[in-house]
Amino acid sequence: MKQNLGTEEAIKRWDTFADTYSKNHTEQGDLHKEVFLNPTLFSLMGNIKNKKVLDAGCGEGYLSRIFYKSGAIVTAVDYSPRMIEITKERTPNDLLIDYRQGNCEDLNTLEDNSFDLIVSNMVIQDLANYDKAFQEMYRLLVDGGSFIFSILHPCFITPKSGWEKTESGEKLHWNVDNYFYEGVYEQPALGDKEKMLFFHRTLTSYVNTLINTGFTIESIVEPKPSKEMLKKYPSFEEDFRCADFMVFKLKK
Ligand SMILES: C[S@@+](CC[C@H](N)C(=O)[O-])C[C@H]1O[C@@H](n2cnc3c(N)ncnc32)[C@H](O)[C@@H]1O
Repeated sequence: MKQNLGTEEAIKRWDTFADTYSKNHTEQGDLHKEVFLNPTLFSLMGNIKNKKVLDAGCGEGYLSRIFYKSGAIVTAVDYSPRMIEITKERTPNDLLIDYRQGNCEDLNTLEDNSFDLIVSNMVIQDLANYDKAFQEMYRLLVDGGSFIFSILHPCFITPKSGWEKTESGEKLHWNVDNYFYEGVYEQPALGDKEKMLFFHRTLTSYVNTLINTGFTIESIVEPKPSKEMLKKYPSFEEDFRCADFMVFKLKK
């Protein structure tokens, strides 16, 4: 397949997928967000009352609404016009969130040093130019501000990874291949009418790009399900075998 990596095409792909994607989301996001990402993000964020927060790649906006309800002053951007429509429809009028259509790789309508915290949940692996997005996040943060982002774990979710199973479907072990490939790949599990594209990079590339941008790494988390979540969703027991996600907390 010849993949079209232009921004307009990427926006069209997300526009087409936006309704299907949003259907899985409650006010806690989808199941993986509820079990793995939300607890990690919230513990890394701490108290955000009166903080200026940017939700970078907000999707249908569940995080923006949680941030607002936690007392933050919230701006949210997404490059998909359909996603922005959905998030506005889902946001009650008394939640004063500044939703904008914008590309995380170039947020020139937002001013330098204007946010205390930027959160980008499961967006960075969508970006063709993640280095530009990191530069934008750095520019937008006040000195001492934090940038928290989550991605698919680059060491385990690669262009060729998945369970090795017996004929009867028993999961033997998780296979990883093509780790050092850096570039675009199709995510077979995502997308209905059109396949969604992700970008794989090695852990080294992520860390060095962040350091070269000027960030200090404050924390890295590979989320595991808590006891409470396992009680609620026992099938996540298998997530103690390898990590699906990685979350970074950076400081400017
Ligand atoms: C996997 S969804 C995550 C949405 C949201 N952060 C959440 O946790 O529910 C990725 C979102 O990022 C948006 N996105 C991808 N690349 C983007 C870019 N360059 N600029 C702005 N938004 C982008 C997509 O339109 C989509 O809404």
